[in-house]
Amino acid sequence: MPILVTGATGNVGRHLVGQLAAAGHRVRALTRDPDAAAFPDGVEAVGGDLADPSSLKAAFDGATAVHLLSSHQPANEPPGAGEVALAHAGELLAMAEQAGVRRVSVLWTGAQGPVEEAAKQSGLEWTIVQPGNFMANARLWAEDVRTEGVVREPFAQVAHYVVHEADIAAVAAAALTGEGHAGKEYTLVGPEGLTVPQQVAILSQAVGREIRYEELTEEQAEDRMRELGMGDEDIDFIVGWNADQANEDRLAAEAADIAAITGRPPRAFAQWAAEHADAFR
Ligand SMILES: NC(=O)c1ccc[n+]([C@@H]2O[C@H](COP(=O)([O-])OP(=O)(O)OC[C@H]3O[C@@H](n4cnc5c(N)ncnc54)[C@H](OP(=O)(O)O)[C@@H]3O)[C@@H](O)[C@H]2O)c1
Repeated sequence: MPILVTGATGNVGRHLVGQLAAAGHRVRALTRDPDAAAFPDGVEAVGGDLADPSSLKAAFDGATAVHLLSSHQPANEPPGAGEVALAHAGELLAMAEQAGVRRVSVLWTGAQGPVEEAAKQSGLEWTIVQPGNFMANARLWAEDVRTEGVVREPFAQVAHYVVHEADIAAVAAAALTGEGHAGKEYTLVGPEGLTVPQQVAILSQAVGREIRYEELTEEQAEDRMRELGMGDEDIDFIVGWNADQANEDRLAAEAADIAAITGRPPRAFAQWAAEHADAFR
């Protein structure tokens, strides 16, 4: 019986699909464009739009477990415009239950919302996966690094416990396939707190070239997000999140033990940088 992975083409989802398939599970990978997606051999690609529950019947049909995003990219919005919380959360969870799903892992967006609420109210075994900033956010720097050798970000002093997407996926995989994770809310952080300048220094080493760091003011950072099409609410959330050392420290203090859940220690940013160095060359 397959495990359905939503967000299967994304930073976390592609690791989750790969890890589940490598462990011998049947995997069904949801994407809005199955023809464009490339999944490992044996993985079943299925089309569907999370904004439209009627498009998801084939995806849920016969699945025993589901990894569910709690937000989606609305149609007709620019890619940088940000995500919105999934509407129809109750309907989606009810569909899953009726289709025979027994377990769900929900990937939060930085705060719990309607999907997490609906999962908790469902009859499913639920696990909420609550990562802090992904290491993959550094991919947003790739073009400036390639063309100008620079990273521009605000808040040089704030250390983020950035977490590797493969570790987030491994926790979701454990929740979907193992015992003892039902009813758990796992805050996930990486193994060390790193400021952006420290991340840039690690990236420089991996890429083999000096990368400069230029600190933006808060206003410059907000303008940049506005130019990408983001709304004020999203901008306020992101600025508030990234400016707040106390929030980072709270996440780190609350964090679940990734090694205990997955059987291997959390990956360091140096590993992520080595894996992705070519994107910055
Ligand atoms: N970046 C961070 O620091 C951070 C921190 C905490 C939580 N998160 C959350 O983690 C989640 C996953 O992020 P990610 O970086 O792995 O994803 P991503 O690389 O941004 O990719 C987005 C994924 O969502 C899917 N998707 C978007 N809209 C969809 C829709 N309407 N219907 C079906 N699928 C849709 C896309 O599938 P297709 O395009 O193939 O259809 C793609 O697989 C996001 O909800 C994000 O808010 C991110």
